[in-house]
Formats: sequence, structure tokens, C-alpha cells
Amino acid sequence: MDFKDYIRVIPDFPQPGISFKDITTLLKDGEMYRKAINELKVMVSDLKIDVIAGPEARGFVVGAPLAYALGVGFAPIRKSGKLPGETIEVGYDLEYGKDTLAMHTDAIEKGQNVLIADDLLATGGTIATSINLIEQLGGNVVGAAFLIELSDLNGRAKLPEKIDVFTLMNY
Ligand code: PRP
Repeated sequence: MDFKDYIRVIPDFPQPGISFKDITTLLKDGEMYRKAINELKVMVSDLKIDVIAGPEARGFVVGAPLAYALGVGFAPIRKSGKLPGETIEVGYDLEYGKDTLAMHTDAIEKGQNVLIADDLLATGGTIATSINLIEQLGGNVVGAAFLIELSDLNGRAKLPEKIDVFTLMNY
């Protein structure tokens, strides 16, 4: 069974021209959700990972179970104003709109190897901003893992070559 069979594609959401890849239809199937996380775990098994960072909100449903499976910590990357402690923030452009991402200044120890996990690589704006935040904190981004990559948007081009990119599905 193909993972793509579990992705619901919704045309013109959240605005005309955007073909939204809805992962909730995968998440609600316990067996396929576990299979997807396990597959990402195998894909990243050659990396030395100290902590996983995941951007709100859908990055949490990929990053947190992957961190649990690997036995490493999880650092949330949140939209501005959500984290209670001291933060650093970086603004960025989304596929549709603008936003600001933030991390706690103590979320990553200097020199730690970080894997970023998210549901989707589109324009790469979110991942590039996440790398910026993690590197400002002294972290070393070793890879990025996604359920889905929208290849036409060429988000990979925004990422440094040293970062290994892993994706389960391509559109
Ligand atoms: C979506 C998605 C990725 C990002 C991908 O998140 O979950 O994080 O956009 O797009 P990009 O590669 O063009 O940056 P969104 O910001 O919509 O937040 P959400 O997960 O809270 O819905």
C-alpha cells in the first residue's frame, strides 16, 4: 500500500490555486502513521542525531513521534508569541503569506546535531528559517525529514548541500 493512497488532496485550499496535501487521512490510520514514522526512522538511521526540531503545528506530529522512536529530545519551533521563555525569532515568507518562527534560546545546546522534521517541504521557507534559528543557537543541522515534498516548488534549493533531505512522498 502506497503512502500517497492515504493523503487527501484538496484543490483550492486555503486559497485558489493551492492544491493542499492533507495528512490527517494518514494520521488517523494508526498502522500507516506508525509505518510512516518508522520509515523516516530507517531513512535517518545513518545520522548522528542529538535532538529533533519540528515547526508548529504539523511538524509536531512528525517530529515528536520520530524523536520518541529514536530516543532523542524534541525542540518545538513555534509561531511568534507562543513560547513562554526567552526566545529568538526570524521572519519568513510562506507559500501563502508571511509569518515569524521562534525558538527558546536554551532549546539546543551548542554543537548538538539537529534533525528537522516536518510534514511538508514546499517553498522551503519554513525549513530555511528553522535552520537559521538552530544555527543562531549553535546547533548543527545534519538533516531534514518530511512526509511530503512538493518537488516543483524546489524547496531543496534553499537548503545548504551539507544537509541530507529525506522524504517519503513526492508530488
Ligand atoms: C506548512 C507545513 C510546513 C510548511 C511548508 O505549515 O506544515 O511547515 O507550511 O511550506 P514551505 O516549505 O513553503 O515553508 P504552516 O506554516 O502552514 O503551519 P501549520 O503546520 O501550523 O499548518
